[in-house]
Amino acid sequence: NGQVGYDTAGFLNKTGNLLLDPAFVNTASCSSKITYIDGDKGVLRYRGYPIEQLAKHSSYLETAYLVIYGDLPTTEQLEVFEQRIRRTTLIDERMRDLFRCFPRRSHPMPVLAAGIMALSTFSEKSAGTDPEQVENATDRLIAKTPTLAAFSYKNSVGQPTLYPDNSLSYIENFIRMSFGFPTEPYEFNDEVTRALEVLLILHVDHEQNCSTSTVRMVGSSGANLYSSVAAGVNALSGPKHGGANQAVIEMLQGIRDSGMSTQEFVNKVKDQKSNVKLMGFGHRIYKIYDPRAAIIKEHADNILKLHTGRQALLEIAQELEETALNDDYFKERKLYPNVDFYSGLIYEAMGFPVNMFTVLFAIGRLPGWIAHYREQMQTNNKIWRPRQLYTGEQERAYRPIELRP
Ligand code: ACO
Repeated sequence: NGQVGYDTAGFLNKTGNLLLDPAFVNTASCSSKITYIDGDKGVLRYRGYPIEQLAKHSSYLETAYLVIYGDLPTTEQLEVFEQRIRRTTLIDERMRDLFRCFPRRSHPMPVLAAGIMALSTFSEKSAGTDPEQVENATDRLIAKTPTLAAFSYKNSVGQPTLYPDNSLSYIENFIRMSFGFPTEPYEFNDEVTRALEVLLILHVDHEQNCSTSTVRMVGSSGANLYSSVAAGVNALSGPKHGGANQAVIEMLQGIRDSGMSTQEFVNKVKDQKSNVKLMGFGHRIYKIYDPRAAIIKEHADNILKLHTGRQALLEIAQELEETALNDDYFKERKLYPNVDFYSGLIYEAMGFPVNMFTVLFAIGRLPGWIAHYREQMQTNNKIWRPRQLYTGEQERAYRPIELRP
C-alpha cells in the first residue's frame, strides 16, 4: 500500500510493504553511538573524537577502551585495563597443539578464525552472553588475538612460536612474537612500532561494514562474543572487504614489471572494456580523500625508507595517485585513495607477507567488533532476520526421477 510504518522500538511495521535494498545500500540496520562517518566531507570519528587526533595522540589500547566503553580512560582506568590485558596474553598450552595440526603453509586468516573459536572452549567463564561473561571474553579476545595471529603467522612460515613477553607494550609484544626468534633478543624500531599502532588505530571501527554487520547479525541470535567475532574474521577474509591492499601491491608490481607509465595504466583503467580497476581508489561511503589514507600516507615515506627495495613501488603509487587525481574520469566519479592504497606497502616494508595483511586488519578491527556486539546486546536483542522478495518458481508437483527430462 506504499506506506511504511514503524513500531515503538523503531522496527519496520509488519503490515508495511517490504523494501528491497540489495547490498543494504540505503538501509540502516541499527542505530549506533560508536562511529560517525561523513563520506562527503571525509570525516571519521570514534565516540566523537576525530580519527586524526586519535592517530596523533592515542595508543591502540586507549582507543580500544574508548570505542568499547564510550569514553577516553583516566590514567588509572587505562592502567587497570592495560594490566588486565597484559596478564591475559598467554594461550593455554594445549592450544599450541592446535597450531601444529594445520598444514605448514596454511593461510593465517582461517587459522586465526579457528583459534578464536578454540579460545571459547578454554573458558566457560566467558563463553556465554551475560554481562560478566562478555566482559571476560572482551579481555581475553583483546589480549590473546595478537598471540593467535603471531602463532598463525609463524605456522605459515614454518618457524617456532614465541610466548608473549608481558614486559613489552601491546604492539611491541605482537611485533616480537611475529618476527623474533626464541633464543635471540629482539631490536625494535620505534618508527615501525608507532606506524603499526597508528595503522591499527585507523582500522578500529568503520560503522556497519560487512564484518561488523556480520558480528551484530550473529550476536543477535544470542551467540557468544567468540562465535560472533570469528564470523567477523571470516567476513573480513573476502577480497572485497579485507583484501584490497594485497590487490594494490599486485597492481603496483604489475605496473613496475610491465614498464608502462602511470598514465598508460590510468588510460587502461578508463577503457571500460579492459575491466581494470585502480585498486585502492574509490569507496562506497567516502566521496573525497579517505581520512585514514591521508594519515597512512604520512607514515609511508618513513617506513619505506627502511626497505630500499620498496621505495620504487611507493614512487609508482605516489605518481599514480597524482595522475588519477588530475584525471576527469576520477574527478567526475569522486574516486580518491582509500585506506588500502598505502597500507599494504607499509605492512610489506615492515616485513609482513601479503597473506598477513587481513590478519593485521582483523587485530585492528577487533575492538570495533566487540563494541558493536556489546551495543547490540545492551540496546535491543531482537534477532536480525531480513526478508526477501521471492522470484523463484510458483508451486510445482513433485516428479519421480524416472519421469524427469
Ligand atoms: N577504478 C576505476 N573505476 C572505478 C573504481 C576504481 N577503483 N571505483 C569505482 N569506479 C567507477 C565504477 O566503474 C563506476 O563507473 P561508472 O559510473 O562509469 O559505471 C563508478 O566509479 C562508481 O563506482 P561503483 O562501483 O558504483 O562504486 P561502489 O560504491 O559500488 O564501489 C568500491 C566501491 C567497491 C570500493 C570500488 O570503488 C572499488 O572496486 N574500488 C577498488 C577496490 C578497493 O580499493 N577496495 C577497498 C575499499 S576500502 C575497504 O573496504 C576497507
